[in-house]
Amino acid sequence: MKSSARNPAVLAHHKQLLKRDAHLRQFGCDLQAGIAFVLKQALPLENPVLEIGTGKGRFLVKLAQHVPDITTVDISPEEQEYARLNARYFRVEDRIKFVLQDAARLPWPDRSFGAVVTMNAMHHIREFEPVLEEMLRVVRPGGKLVLADFSPRGFQNMARAHRAEGKTHLREPHLFRDLQKFLRKRGLAIRLGKGCHEEVLVARFPTA
Ligand SMILES: C[S@@+](CC[C@H](N)C(=O)[O-])C[C@H]1O[C@@H](n2cnc3c(N)ncnc32)[C@H](O)[C@@H]1O
Repeated sequence: MKSSARNPAVLAHHKQLLKRDAHLRQFGCDLQAGIAFVLKQALPLENPVLEIGTGKGRFLVKLAQHVPDITTVDISPEEQEYARLNARYFRVEDRIKFVLQDAARLPWPDRSFGAVVTMNAMHHIREFEPVLEEMLRVVRPGGKLVLADFSPRGFQNMARAHRAEGKTHLREPHLFRDLQKFLRKRGLAIRLGKGCHEEVLVARFPTA
């Protein structure tokens, strides 16, 4: 049975996310401020939009308040279940298709999306080249690619927040500038936005 936005499981999950965000803020990581910054750089976006790396759906639910047709992919069923509850809380679930898939092998034909976006996921992906190749392949002419990840300060703050819990914030060795280099080699015109929490790269595709 489909649970409502006020179902106890949905509410408990939402409370848990708020608690996590409050912990992170103590160390200077303001995920919601980061999302607001990324959205400002990214919008407007043409439907349908593909998101890479659903995670807990923090970015997804805010994006869905602006975009009515989003597909989001992740390799983790647990993360997508979490994100689904988050989407239900914000009453945007009917705007989102959840797909379990490795982003290095997207199942859609070339030029299927008006925009492909990702936030705070690229640093989790060891081999970023095949994923970027796929992202480029599925954007249609005139569309946009938006890559966002933590700024150097953002990474430092996340590392401190994790250390305080006896954990490590996992991060693959490549840097945001390696992604820029890869896209510039493809001749794409890139606009960069540098915020306190996030760095954002927006590439526009020429119309055919
Ligand atoms: C930190 S989370 C993303 C956060 C999310 N975008 C947000 O703003 O709430 C990173 C996600 O990337 C996913 N991921 C890692 N490698 C992936 C791959 N090859 N394909 C798809 N998703 C992947 C992980 O499972 C994880 O859920």
